[in-house]
Amino acid sequence: MLLQFPTLNFGLILKDFVNKEPQTKCTSNNLRVYETGDGSISLVNTDLREVFHNSNGARKEAIEKFINPSEINLFKEQKEISVLDLCVGMGYNSACLVDAILKTQLSLDWWGLEQDKRPLQIALSSAKFRSTWKNKTLNFLECINEKNQWESNLGKGKMLWGDARLEITKIPKETKYDLIFHDAFSPQKSPELWSEEFLQKLSKKLSNGGKLITYSRAAAIRASLRRSGLTLQSLLTTKSSENNWSNGTVAIKSPNPHNKSTNTLLWSPLSQMEEDHLMTVAAIPYRDPTGNSSSFEIIERRNCEQKKSNLSNTNSWKKRWIRTKY
Ligand SMILES: C[S@@+](CC[C@H](N)C(=O)[O-])C[C@H]1O[C@@H](n2cnc3c(N)ncnc32)[C@H](O)[C@@H]1O
Repeated sequence: MLLQFPTLNFGLILKDFVNKEPQTKCTSNNLRVYETGDGSISLVNTDLREVFHNSNGARKEAIEKFINPSEINLFKEQKEISVLDLCVGMGYNSACLVDAILKTQLSLDWWGLEQDKRPLQIALSSAKFRSTWKNKTLNFLECINEKNQWESNLGKGKMLWGDARLEITKIPKETKYDLIFHDAFSPQKSPELWSEEFLQKLSKKLSNGGKLITYSRAAAIRASLRRSGLTLQSLLTTKSSENNWSNGTVAIKSPNPHNKSTNTLLWSPLSQMEEDHLMTVAAIPYRDPTGNSSSFEIIERRNCEQKKSNLSNTNSWKKRWIRTKY
């Protein structure tokens, strides 16, 4: 994830790692552990050339991009909050969520989707990783890792291992989510989880007022989410963030006008620059009509559609907005 900036290539990312002892440590074939800026560990998938988190901090990123925008305090009138973690990986987003729930009276109804068991196993085998979580949070991670389910006085959870496109169909129809964390690898690497069809499925799983939160600010993703009927908000950058114009997207289903956000400093409606982005070829969606296309097929399909498109060129958009204060 997060290597969306066209100028940011893997060489740079590796250079970043090299400056941070102990650099990367080979753990499991194509997965390498590295230490991020806040001291928390993360992984690099060397086949895909993708990092799980940015080098500023894995835990920091989970809090800034997923937990803070969740605004857990807004749910205090409810007894229960239901959450879907798409791409659980090492479990940071959900572990930070459990930490946040611990400070409330809320009960958590949690669901997780992930195809690879190794990231969570690698995380849980690290003493450093384990030492940073409260006992109840660690118990949550251990339960989903060992038993694929969790139950405690904080709530209950179910872990579905496998391709999320298939596993999502196993979630009961009536289950709707207050929050969906979408933390897949970037659209160019995991287009199957960013297709118009899959995003539509996720949108249907949101309850009214529910939020899909993602680090992605890509035009194709935003355009698909908007066509799914969600209201888009741009996650604002923080002082330390690696991005200069948006930290991601919060897509809300039928926002409740009475349920006011307590912290409008977190996000804002899309700026003119971001709206213009959606008018360029970058907004052409990833398509997976059968729900089982390979990444290659999805990317090729989009490339063809982009070549034929009359939409404006994304480079002109960049030039138009360059050097402006967003
Ligand atoms: C950016 S990482 C997730 C990071 C994670 N949220 C964390 O805190 O560690 C992306 C994850 O997506 C998973 N993934 C990739 N393709 C998938 C698919 N089709 N279905 C389910 N999970 C998938 C990868 O195994 C990887 O763990």
